[in-house]
Amino acid sequence: MGAIFQSLGRTIIAGIVVLLIIMGIAGTFAKVGDMQWWTFFMRWLHVLSGVMWIGLLWYFNFVQIPSMPKIPDEHKPAVGKVIAPTALFWFRWAALATVVTGVLLAWMQGYIGSALTLRPGFATIGTGMWFALVMAFNVWFIIWPNQKKALGIVTVPADEKAKAARSAMLASRFNTMLSVPMLFLMVAQQNGGL
Ligand code: HEM
Repeated sequence: MGAIFQSLGRTIIAGIVVLLIIMGIAGTFAKVGDMQWWTFFMRWLHVLSGVMWIGLLWYFNFVQIPSMPKIPDEHKPAVGKVIAPTALFWFRWAALATVVTGVLLAWMQGYIGSALTLRPGFATIGTGMWFALVMAFNVWFIIWPNQKKALGIVTVPADEKAKAARSAMLASRFNTMLSVPMLFLMVAQQNGGL
């Protein structure tokens, strides 16, 4: 057990093995030729990447940003130079994976156009999709470029660095606000939440 859990890669593989065993017991492999099953599979990939993305968004807002003022200056580089760049790497790629799987999911169900144009019956998921697309735009084109300056990945003068840190923080807060209704709308489409 220790040998598995000491490695993140082996831990994830173990999770997949557990899932395959459950699918084997449940007889799920018989459904694999079925398009409806692949739509479900895409929904699972979508939720998985969405959890990674929004989990890290909430980590930044609930844990990292409020903790920074309490960390002594000599220890701050541990966060700025090591933890934040790693978190941002997974954050931005998870955001992209969520968009790709979400768009594919809507396309596989044949309503992508109706959702994005907010047609009757699809306005719930369409509004959720627009909220999430705005959030993903924010991640790639506002938060990440500003974080590169704030964390010193791109060298800029001190005043520009401070301004970039504030812009990244405000955009991240904006996304945290949108994450609340966005998630409601995501799950409401299928479950009659509105
Ligand atoms: C641009 C980004 C996104 C797009 C295009 C998108 C699209 C979709 C679509 C088409 C569905 C299926 C709705 C249905 O027919 O029931 C869905 C469901 C869902 N999405 Fe997203 N989504 C996005 C972002 C997110 C994010 C960031 C999360 C965060 C976790 C998320 C979580 C979910 C959940 C939990 C469901 C419900 C699955 C279910 O009820 O079975 N989505 N999304």
